[in-house]
Amino acid sequence: MNILISFYSRTGTTRKAAEDIEESLVKRDVEVKTEEVIDKKDRDGKTGYIVAGKDAMMKKETEIEEVSYNPENFDMLVVGTPVWAGKVTPAIRTYLEKYKDEIDHAAFFCTHGGGGESNTFNDMKEIIGEPKEVLTLRDKEVKEGEHLDNLSNFIESIL
Ligand SMILES: Cc1cc2nc3c(=O)[nH]c(=O)nc-3n(C[C@H](O)[C@H](O)[C@H](O)COP(=O)(O)O)c2cc1C
Repeated sequence: MNILISFYSRTGTTRKAAEDIEESLVKRDVEVKTEEVIDKKDRDGKTGYIVAGKDAMMKKETEIEEVSYNPENFDMLVVGTPVWAGKVTPAIRTYLEKYKDEIDHAAFFCTHGGGGESNTFNDMKEIIGEPKEVLTLRDKEVKEGEHLDNLSNFIESIL
């Protein structure tokens, strides 16, 4: 089995979660590639934050940098996003719209600041359909390394 992990991260929390998922899969001898989806729009600072929330709320797409891997070459896509205004980020929305016809099996993960996944997974389901499994992680627990049990259960159920 080979798995592609694709994620967007503005401040590193979702990246950390993606890296932990990768490490956990490698330990189980799964072939894994990891891809960071890069949003070309400047999301830094206060203005970047406000516009980011607005773009997510309005279900906007964005311009993303070209990616290295096509999900069609993998048995499963594990795709992750931070929750923005209760929704999926524009970068992951754009990525899923672009590759929806190449994705057969997917699992979702998200990180959030305390509000939970809200409509994030519903947004993703609207684009690529039902995932095999989902994982919701609070930013604080990822930073403090308290997410590993949840992560382990997630890995068990996607394999
Ligand atoms: C524009 C913006 C909107 C956000 N909206 C929410 C939200 O609706 N609910 C929530 O729980 N956290 C929200 N957050 C917090 C992030 O989801 C959380 O800190 C996440 O772990 C950040 O991931 P990252 O470090 O990979 O960018 C928001 C953050 C940003 C930048």
